[in-house]
Amino acid sequence: MKIFVTDHDGVEHELEALEGWRVMEVIRDWELPIKAECGGACSCATCHVFVDPEWLPKLHEASDEEEDMLDTVPDVEPNSRLSCQILMSEELDGLKVRLAPSAKPETAAA
Ligand code: FES
Repeated sequence: MKIFVTDHDGVEHELEALEGWRVMEVIRDWELPIKAECGGACSCATCHVFVDPEWLPKLHEASDEEEDMLDTVPDVEPNSRLSCQILMSEELDGLKVRLAPSAKPETAAA
């Protein structure tokens, strides 16, 4: 299965994903720039992505924990999600997300 990830420069990447993996892990494994400081524990919000509106209804609702974390990011949008809270499954094959500015590692080139 695949996901499509648009990076901070607006370039779309097609990434091979595995069922049961977190979207954050897929992005990180393919070495796209994502901070994901807490490693998926839903406690940093630096794995923030914008989900393509067409795909939003296919995702499970954000937990209260996830909502609380999203409230802490400056660039939150109605389609904001934490990519470590999205588990890959058959229904999400082809998922499209865009990396949020707040997920950009400081070390990545501007
Ligand atoms: Fe920290 Fe997702 S990696 S909240």
